[in-house]
Amino acid sequence: MSPAAHSGLDDVIAADTVLSHVDGAAGRLIIRGHDLEELAGRWSYEAVAALLWDGFVPGITEAEIRAGLGEARAALFDTAIALLPQAKTLTPVEALRLMLAALPDASPVPAHLLVTAAVPVFAAAIVRQGRGLAPVAPDATLGQAADFLRMVRGTTPEPAHIRALDTYLVTVVDHGLNASTFAARVVAATRAGMASSVVAGLCALKGPLHGGAPGPVLDMFDAIGTPAAARAWLAEALDRGERLMGFGHRIYKVRDPRADVLKAAAAGLKGGDNRVRLAEAVEAAALDLLAARKQAKPLQTNVEFYTALVLEALGLPREAFTAVFAAGRVAGWAAHVLEQEATGRLIRPQSRYVGPAPRQAA
Ligand code: ACO
Repeated sequence: MSPAAHSGLDDVIAADTVLSHVDGAAGRLIIRGHDLEELAGRWSYEAVAALLWDGFVPGITEAEIRAGLGEARAALFDTAIALLPQAKTLTPVEALRLMLAALPDASPVPAHLLVTAAVPVFAAAIVRQGRGLAPVAPDATLGQAADFLRMVRGTTPEPAHIRALDTYLVTVVDHGLNASTFAARVVAATRAGMASSVVAGLCALKGPLHGGAPGPVLDMFDAIGTPAAARAWLAEALDRGERLMGFGHRIYKVRDPRADVLKAAAAGLKGGDNRVRLAEAVEAAALDLLAARKQAKPLQTNVEFYTALVLEALGLPREAFTAVFAAGRVAGWAAHVLEQEATGRLIRPQSRYVGPAPRQAA
C-alpha cells in the first residue's frame, strides 16, 4: 500500500517563493521583505505591484506600472463592451470568469499588465450592468483604485474612498500559496500562459471557503441585525453544523493581520461606525463560541470578515465582492505566474489508488 494521501496538502511545501510569507503562528504577513502593516495604507497598489514584479519583468517603477496599467485599462474597454451581453445572466464572478477567459495568453500588451488591468475594467462594467447602467470608459491617467471606483460610480470618488480601496487592494494582493495562487501556479507550470493561469486562480477564488466569503459575511450581519442578537444567532448556526463566514484559516493559528488593517480602514469611512460596532459584537461572540466548541483547532477572525465592511462602506454590491477581491489578488497571481515560469517545474503530485483491484487474468 502506498503512503497515506496528504488530504488538503497541510504542511506540504510545494514551491520556493520570494514573493510573500504567511507566518501563521505569529500572525504576520510578509510581502517581499515588508510586513503588511508597512505597505497597507502607505504604498499604492501600483507600488506594491512593482515590488512583487521586480526582477521578473522590465519596467518596474511605480510610475511605469501606473502608466502601463492605465494604457492597458483603456485598451480593454472595447473588449468589455463586446463581452458584457454574454455575461448578463451570470453572477458577477462568473461574468468576470467569462470575460477573463476571452483574453489571449500572448498579446502585444505585457501579460502581467493585461490581466491586472483587465480585472477592474471588467468588474466595474459588470457591476454597472447589474445596475442597468452602461459601462464607463477607463481614465488612463488614474491609479487602479481611483479608476475602478470611478468606473463603478460614473463620478469622481472622494479621496478617502480611493485610499480605503487602495488599502484593501494592497491588503489582499498576495498571501503565500493560498488555493487560488496554487491553482494559478499549477496552470503556469504547464506553460499554458498568463491569462489561462489567472482564470484558474479566479475559479479557485470563487468558492465560499476562499474568496467567496465576504458577501455571506454581510448576509450574516443583516440576519443578526443588532449586537444583542449576535450570540444566540451564531450559536444556532453552529448547532445546525454551519461554518461561520469570516472565521478560521488553514495557516493562521492567531488573528489574521489583514483583519485589523481592514477594520481600521472600515472605521475610517463615513457611515462605517455602526457596522463596525455590530461586527465587533459578532466577532467577540463568534470567537467565544468557536473556542468553546472547536477546541481541536484555534479558529480566529480572517480577512473576509472586515473586507465585507470596507467594501460595503465603499458602496460596492455584496454579490460583486469576490470580483473586487480578484482586482487586488490579480497582481499577486501574475507575480506567482512569472515566478513559476522563471524558476518552477511541472507540478505533478501523485494520488493513492484506493479503487477496486484489477481482475486477475483467467
Ligand atoms: N466556523 C465553524 N467551524 C469551523 C470554521 C468556521 N468558520 N472553520 C473551521 N471550522 C471547523 C470545521 O468544521 C472543523 O470542525 P470539525 O473537526 O468539528 O469538523 C474544524 O474547524 C477544522 O476545520 P478544517 O476544515 O480542517 O479547516 P480548514 O483549514 O480546512 O479550513 C477554512 C479553513 C476553509 C478557511 C475554514 O476555516 C472555513 O470554512 N471558514 C469559513 C469560510 C471563510 O471564512 N473563508 C475565507 C477564508 S480567508 C481566504 O481564503 C481569503
